[in-house]
Amino acid sequence: MRFIYVMSVNSALSSACLMLNSSFAFLSLPPLVRYASLMIDLNTCGPMVLDALIKIKNEMDLTLTFRRSCREGICGSCAMNINGGNTLACLNKIDTNTSKVMKIYPLPRMYVVKDLVPDMSNFFAQYKSIEPYLKKKDESKQGKEQYLQSIEDRQKLDGLYECLLCACCSTSCPSYWWNGDKYLGPAVLTQAYRWMIDSRDDFIEERLSKLQDPFSLYRCHTIMNCTKTCPKGLNPGKAIAEIKKMMATYKEKRSSAI
Ligand code: SF4
Ligand code: SF4
Ligand code: FES
Repeated sequence: MRFIYVMSVNSALSSACLMLNSSFAFLSLPPLVRYASLMIDLNTCGPMVLDALIKIKNEMDLTLTFRRSCREGICGSCAMNINGGNTLACLNKIDTNTSKVMKIYPLPRMYVVKDLVPDMSNFFAQYKSIEPYLKKKDESKQGKEQYLQSIEDRQKLDGLYECLLCACCSTSCPSYWWNGDKYLGPAVLTQAYRWMIDSRDDFIEERLSKLQDPFSLYRCHTIMNCTKTCPKGLNPGKAIAEIKKMMATYKEKRSSAI
């Protein structure tokens, strides 16, 4: 048997928190808190943190709110902060060490809609801004035949196309915390890079040109929290470094053309 402590915050740039333990000692209540202390039998619960959340919602407190869909690390919707790290609740095992408090918060530095649900509006608006789709200069062949690419060119997209857009990386990035309105953050920049290096896309220069301002790209200071936290093992920090290299070549080319 375990005690589960659930706390949540109403619509504030603060944190909802859930703790799994038999100890009250580590409870600290953020402002505007509503909370409940619950006890669940983990022997009748699945092994993952998402299983515990679903059990609480189904059996104890149906007002507890969180996002989830696939339950297998594919959709990216159950991203949250578990024991201090951003990850996916469905891929994160419940810590069986009862001497430690297990703490669950929404993704850091995001506005909270309710409980463990962050407001992703800005994140997805930024994603939309990079035009994350194939763009051709000549559209006369559109819908008529496939745009082929070599095996080698296709392999360049490995480690990029797998991104779930869960935002674990962006919300672990200090630069994104402070400048999230202007800095695109590692998730969106990784996708910008994914389209820049797609051999079928014709808009690489235009894509680079949109990132030239001091914030969109250059607020990355290579701290690499993003890469450390990615639950899919991707490397957003490297993708950003590659864009910076491409940008240097692009700027050089532009200045020599003037
Ligand atoms: S490497 Fe860049 S994007 Fe990643 S956490 Fe550091 S500053 Fe943020
Ligand atoms: S790069 Fe990783 S952490 Fe970032 S959004 Fe994609 S899957 Fe999530
Ligand atoms: S529920 Fe889809 S990734 Fe966790």
